[in-house]
Amino acid sequence: MISSQTISSSSLKPGHHDSPVPSGASDREALFAMLAERYGTPFYVYDADVIDRQVSTLRAVLPETVSSKILYSFKSNPNPVVAGRMNEGGCRADLTSVGEIEAARVAGFDLREALYGGPGKSVNELAVALSVGIRQFSIESPSDLAALREAAEAQEVTVKGLIRINPHQIPRAKLAMSGVASQFGFEEDVLRESGKEILSHAGEQVEIVGVHIYWGTQIGDAEALASCFELTVQIAEELSELLDFPLKILNLGGGFPWPYSSAGEGPDLSPLRDKLAELVTSSGKAREAEWWFESGRFLSAASGTLVSRVMDLKVSKEEKEFLILDTGIHHLGGMAGLGRIPKFSIDLEIPASRQDNEEMTVDVVGQLCTPLDCIGRRIKMPRVEAGDLVAIPNTGAYGPTASVLGFLSRPAPTEILHRGGTVLAASRLRGGHDLLD
Ligand SMILES: Cc1ncc(COP(=O)(O)O)c(C=O)c1O
Repeated sequence: MISSQTISSSSLKPGHHDSPVPSGASDREALFAMLAERYGTPFYVYDADVIDRQVSTLRAVLPETVSSKILYSFKSNPNPVVAGRMNEGGCRADLTSVGEIEAARVAGFDLREALYGGPGKSVNELAVALSVGIRQFSIESPSDLAALREAAEAQEVTVKGLIRINPHQIPRAKLAMSGVASQFGFEEDVLRESGKEILSHAGEQVEIVGVHIYWGTQIGDAEALASCFELTVQIAEELSELLDFPLKILNLGGGFPWPYSSAGEGPDLSPLRDKLAELVTSSGKAREAEWWFESGRFLSAASGTLVSRVMDLKVSKEEKEFLILDTGIHHLGGMAGLGRIPKFSIDLEIPASRQDNEEMTVDVVGQLCTPLDCIGRRIKMPRVEAGDLVAIPNTGAYGPTASVLGFLSRPAPTEILHRGGTVLAASRLRGGHDLLD
């Protein structure tokens, strides 16, 4: 658990639902109190400086002897002002839906440089992607190829296709999306056997120019990442040779790790720098390709903090206590229940004025009418009180849009981007139903 620094115990009034900026509070705690007063709770607050730092940290390990590009994966956080920072930092857009295209447009990305991927793409969404200028597509299956061809021919444009491959090896990722049975990508073995025939259906307007392999998310450390990338290069070179397509773009995916909703930092990625440099040196035709790296959580997670209000403390049977917040699985970690996000445990920052309180053990729950709405089990912490603000760090990735936002029709949390305490933008995802007839 991390604590905020000094705050006078009289300055946060238990039970009151306004948050005067406490004199003597740490900058962080004072910022949260100020934002709570201005926007209400709960809210996600993103620190622009931290986003910028993460982009430079990742860029610093990528190889310099090839043209390396970072693609920001909108799925981790499509908030346009957050994504806008990635754009300012020189990232390109990794997009998978028309909604993400719109977010990228608002964020100012050059859509001609974006990659559009994902399984089961419709001709209609591909048509939208083409109409806004997207020209790079990850292709996941024979019918995906057919849909892309149809959309490209209809608009009389030529596009670049990356063959997404599901290799037969199993990676060292927490949530593997390759090397296991999945809906993603062409099976490597199938490509080796009948890839020429499959790719012969690309037609004139889909130019196959490279390979995309995304091994999974939260890959353990620099060494594990390097071994995934090594395999990617090997598979890409072999298949480009075998199936006779050029290797102009090598999308090595990512999986760069960062903690989720708990305090601390990801592993040191700096050893990856030399490993990637060596990989470039030892590679064959891949050396001529652009090397693309996709990242969501590493770029956005650290910047975000979810700030919430303690609504109640309930003592139940056998003295079991529940800390009830005005946030829960509709704002954070809803996808953990679906297995998409690893089971997580939260760390809570609490007011410094509570640091010396007696310890309690609580399940941290929200306001939803389901026992599933629990974001922390058996958390030991100093006693806090109704009205206190608490904060969950490292929640800039897979927050609101990876949660069960619509469940119980509570509003989405406010999302605020700040730099050095100055608010740059605030927004809230819309809820409710659009009536169609
Ligand atoms: C194809 C692809 N690229 C990139 C990402 C982003 O992963 P991460 O947020 O772990 O960087 C994902 C996440 O599922 C993905 O499926």
